[in-house]
Amino acid sequence: MRKGKEYEFLIEDIEFPATGVSYADGLKVYIKNSLPGQKVLARLSKKRREYAEAKVIKILEDVDFKREALCPIFKGCGGCSTQDVPYDIQLNLKEKQVLRLFEEANLSGFEYLGIEGSPKEEEYRNKMEFTFGDMEKGGELTLGMHAKGRSFGIITADYCKIVDEDYRNILATVLAYFREKKFSHYRIMSHEGYLRNLVIRKADNTGEILINIVTTSQVEFDFAEITEILKSLNYKGNLVGILHTINDSLSDVVQADKIELLYGRDYIIEEILGLKFKITPFSFFQTNSKGAEKLYSIVKEFLGDSKSKTVFDLYCGTGTIGQIVAPDAEKVIGIELIEEAVKSANENAKLNNLNNCKFIAGDVAKIIKSVKEKPDVIILDPPRPGVHPDALKYVVDFNAPDIIYVSCNPKTLITDLKYLTEQGYKIEKVKVKDMFPHTPHVETVVKLYK
Ligand SMILES: C[S@@+](CC[C@H](N)C(=O)[O-])C[C@H]1O[C@@H](n2cnc3c(N)ncnc32)[C@H](O)[C@@H]1O
Repeated sequence: MRKGKEYEFLIEDIEFPATGVSYADGLKVYIKNSLPGQKVLARLSKKRREYAEAKVIKILEDVDFKREALCPIFKGCGGCSTQDVPYDIQLNLKEKQVLRLFEEANLSGFEYLGIEGSPKEEEYRNKMEFTFGDMEKGGELTLGMHAKGRSFGIITADYCKIVDEDYRNILATVLAYFREKKFSHYRIMSHEGYLRNLVIRKADNTGEILINIVTTSQVEFDFAEITEILKSLNYKGNLVGILHTINDSLSDVVQADKIELLYGRDYIIEEILGLKFKITPFSFFQTNSKGAEKLYSIVKEFLGDSKSKTVFDLYCGTGTIGQIVAPDAEKVIGIELIEEAVKSANENAKLNNLNNCKFIAGDVAKIIKSVKEKPDVIILDPPRPGVHPDALKYVVDFNAPDIIYVSCNPKTLITDLKYLTEQGYKIEKVKVKDMFPHTPHVETVVKLYK
């Protein structure tokens, strides 16, 4: 096989994150966007001594379980990858990929509690970050998701089915307004242009909606008219705030140099398992509220009787997990990098009449050294790169009898579990929880004991 040439491959397996696996010329070939059972024509994009990678050009023989996708733009939109696969099969495939990683790392001897699906398969997201752009260079303004398989190109996502009709309505209104005004979108290569993102948050349980229009500072524009238009829309939920954020950063991330409140307030309140959580524009919050209730219930179940226990909630975001377990615990200490999220976490604790919680701002790897309390349980819920090795050493040094690890990336979870098991922890039980239907992502909850 030679790089750049096209070959036929039979997809024999799937590995995390949703990458088809084939074997040819004595090499393992990784092929993204393919499913076990498919025969594909693919171009070899990388060849190493141990493995190769290829990109699908055409599906020659498809699997028989495919269904019609929920969304008419599914084929061109980079947001979802498996809408045309029935949800029970999506779950089987995710479960297989996670368990394979445990097997390969020789992590066994635990109770496996299966995979649990998302309570909602459609309209499950409580946040969406849409991008302004175009489909062809210099073409009509678009607003939505990055187009599938293209480095540039934004496809208008006004049919998006993983959010509800309020999102679709807001998107269509904002796009029509700015198309009429003939504003340009920001171009990442030249750093020129005005419109960057439309970020919508809608709390699934309370219905509160926050709209945030993100632009550069390259144009002076009065947002009064679009604010009034957005206020006058008919919502299923309840519009509580409209923001204009200025972001002049050169990279593609949504961040704020300045936030202007155009209407109402700059946060929404979501209710999770009977508690209230204030969510500010840049705080992390689980994107699937109904799924989060299930995820946190698994954590509570794994925690068991927490009476008179000191619980550490590391990577705590707005303090959700800590506060959900706080009514039964002696004390909760949370650490989180984003100051805004910590401020909300402390406010949330007050709002929920919890006086045994303390949330501290900073990098877990640094702050953890200065915490004097001794935990009975450490809950870890890190971002995708996992727990920083320095932080993991301190976690072990606390010698807590139990650790509960909530992970959104099974690969880094496995690396961290290997370390924890080498340091004397044993895996008691594992449950896989899907929070992200139609995407390769999945959560895993693991309980360890010493
Ligand atoms: C997967 S989220 C979990 C949040 C929370 N447990 C929840 O369920 O809403 C990971 C959190 O870790 C935070 N984070 C990332 N790097 C961090 C670091 N080095 N130290 C502390 N927190 C960090 C992120 O801001 C984010 O809020």
